[in-house]
Amino acid sequence: MKQADLIWMNGEFVAWEDAKVHVLTHALHYGTGVFEGVRAYETARGPAIFRHQDHIERLFRSAGMYFMEIPFTREEIRAATHETIQRSGLKSCYIRPLVFRGAGPMGLYPLDCPVDVMIAVWEWGAYLGEEGKVNGVRAAVSSWRRISSDALIPTAKAGGQYLNSILAKIEADKAGYEEAILLDSRGYVCEGTGENLFLVRDGVIHTPPLTASILDGINRRSAITLARDMGYEVVERDIARAELALADEVFLTGTAAELTPMRSIDDIEIGPPGEITRAVQQVFEDALHGRAEQYADWNDVVPVPAPTP
Ligand SMILES: Cc1ncc(COP(=O)(O)O)c(C=O)c1O
Repeated sequence: MKQADLIWMNGEFVAWEDAKVHVLTHALHYGTGVFEGVRAYETARGPAIFRHQDHIERLFRSAGMYFMEIPFTREEIRAATHETIQRSGLKSCYIRPLVFRGAGPMGLYPLDCPVDVMIAVWEWGAYLGEEGKVNGVRAAVSSWRRISSDALIPTAKAGGQYLNSILAKIEADKAGYEEAILLDSRGYVCEGTGENLFLVRDGVIHTPPLTASILDGINRRSAITLARDMGYEVVERDIARAELALADEVFLTGTAAELTPMRSIDDIEIGPPGEITRAVQQVFEDALHGRAEQYADWNDVVPVPAPTP
């Protein structure tokens, strides 16, 4: 992993190895942090952050749902991210902003603990592998159900919530699969451990709706827009588990995994990536890398720093 020299912490740049917290940091004990996974890609106009404003907006929404007031404005977070990338010298990178309850009074009541913020960047390949993006990955339906909205907040990206994905990921890995698919509390298809799910049947694209406890994925929204612009019908509806076995094509979307096709689910062969998956993936990749004129406003270009006199 190629890392940056500096991490932005509470308004200042500190050396990567000095970006530390106290062991009584509230978030370390109770998972009281919210975060984003964002990517910047090398484009003809320089490094550009994909749908940056949407990620910042979701970060603030997640923080609000856990009563954390971020002590910086959206514009300050955006500028700090730009500067972190500039100073890293990386042309493309994964970006991890984290807002968390810092060291303060212990106990479950968090509102007297400080709200700390950090932004780190590093070079990171596709989460499910480059090979997976080309040939598809093997997944299994998890025995763990996705957190439901009567216990937690599926639309928030909060650290503690990810214990759910982590259990599913470990289970899948131990069983020899590359990814897990979680069902929602009703038994309908929900999503992967860090990706939204789409299936194709008879030329129509289907994806679970927000009411199926999914994370409102930014790449999910992008894929829906692209696919509809390409003329495909995209239906947001509840998907029964058995429909996975009948699907012609299945693919996942997420910042970390980008658009990754699925080759098999529960050892039922779907086959190599199908025609619609590949077509949407192609346009999606163009949009990520700033090659799609139509979606140019999705790329937040990191300004080149002014030369120092
Ligand atoms: C649980 C979960 N679902 C879906 C996604 C995909 O969301 P996005 O496309 O905004 O990265 C992610 C990744 O952030 C996730 O963690």
